[in-house]
Amino acid sequence: MPARIIGTGSSLPSLVVSNTELEKIMDTSDEWIKSRTGIGERHIAVEETTTSMAVEASERAMQSAKIEAEEIDLIIVGTVSGDMCFPSTACQVQSRIGAVNATAFDINAACAGFLFGLSIADAYIKAGMAKTALIIGAETLSKMMDWNDRSTCILFGDGAGAAIVKGDEHGIMSIVQGTDGARGEVLTCHNRAVNNPFVKGSMELDYTSMNGQEVYKFAVKTVPVAIRQALDAAGVQVDEIKYFLLHQANIRIIEAVARKMGQPIEKFPTNLQKCGNISAGSVPILLDSVNEQGVLKRGDKIVLAGFGAGLSWGASVLTW
Ligand code: UT7
Repeated sequence: MPARIIGTGSSLPSLVVSNTELEKIMDTSDEWIKSRTGIGERHIAVEETTTSMAVEASERAMQSAKIEAEEIDLIIVGTVSGDMCFPSTACQVQSRIGAVNATAFDINAACAGFLFGLSIADAYIKAGMAKTALIIGAETLSKMMDWNDRSTCILFGDGAGAAIVKGDEHGIMSIVQGTDGARGEVLTCHNRAVNNPFVKGSMELDYTSMNGQEVYKFAVKTVPVAIRQALDAAGVQVDEIKYFLLHQANIRIIEAVARKMGQPIEKFPTNLQKCGNISAGSVPILLDSVNEQGVLKRGDKIVLAGFGAGLSWGASVLTW
C-alpha cells in the first residue's frame, strides 16, 4: 500500500526582506534579482529557528490531517541547517509535538530533502515498518550565507513545510531519485571550524558557495528527465498532471522545465516571488499553499520535484 499525503502545513518567519531593502546593504538591484531569478522578497528568521518553524509546520499539518501526535510513528526532517548537530531536528520536533511513538531522524539531501524524505516514508509504509509518517523540510539558510556574497545571499530564504502521509490504496505512484557526488563541488557549505590540537592549521568557518551557472545547467537538464522517468514508472501521461510543484530556485529554471515538458506555465505554481529558495522547505511550503487554496481534488495527479546540492534530485508522481 503506497503512502498518501493526508495533510500539509507550513511556517514562515515574520520578517520579510524585499529586494529594495537588500539594495540598501549591498551592491545589487531589484531589477537584477527579479530578472535573473523571479525573486521579489524572502522571509528571514530572527526569533524563529529551524526547529520552531518545523514544529509549527508539523502542528498545522496534523490539524490538516486531523490526527494526533501519538499516531505518528515516523518523523523525517530534510534539512541542511538544523539548529544543532545533535540531537537531530527530527528528535527535537518529536519532543516538542509529543510524538512519543515515533522514530525520528534527519536526512541531508539539500533541496531534494523533502522528496528523499517522502521516498523513505513511502518505503517504510510499504514495508509495514510505519503507518503514519510526518515529513518535514525546514531551513534557516540565512545563517548559512555569506552576506558579503551578493551572488548567493539574495537567493535564499527561511521556512518550513510539512506533510503527513498514511498508507492508502492511492497515493505516491512513483518516486525517482538520483545523486551525482562527483559534481558536488558546484554547491557547497563546509562544516564548523576545527579546534583540534592534532590537526595542523585550523579549518575556517565557511558559508554557502555556488557556481550558479553549473547548478542552473544541471537543473534544466536533469529535472525534465527525472520527471519523465517518474511519469513512465507511474504509467501516467504528462497531460494528465494537474500541477508540477518544483523546487523554487529560479523562475527561469521552472519556465525551462515547463517548455521541455511541453506544458503550460500555469500548471507550475510558484512562491519564489515571496519566499526565495528555501532548499528542503520549498516543495512542502508550496504544496501547503496550493492545498490551502483548495484547488487540489481527490484523484488529481501531481508531480513534486526537488534538486540541488549533492548534486541530488528527486521527482514523484502522486495521486492526491
Ligand atoms: O537550490 C539549489 C539550486 N540552485 C539553483 O538552481 C541556482 C541555479 N543558478 C541560478 O539560478 C543562476 O545561475 C543565478 C541566479 C545564481 C545567477 O544568474 P546568472 O544569470 O547565472 O548570473 P551570473 O552568475 O552569470 O552573473 C552575471 C553577472 C555577474 O557580473 P559580470 O561578471 O557579468 O560583470 C555577476 O557578478 O551578475 C553579477 N551579479 C549580480 N549583480 C547584481 C551576481 N549577483 C548579483 C547580484 N546583483 N545579486
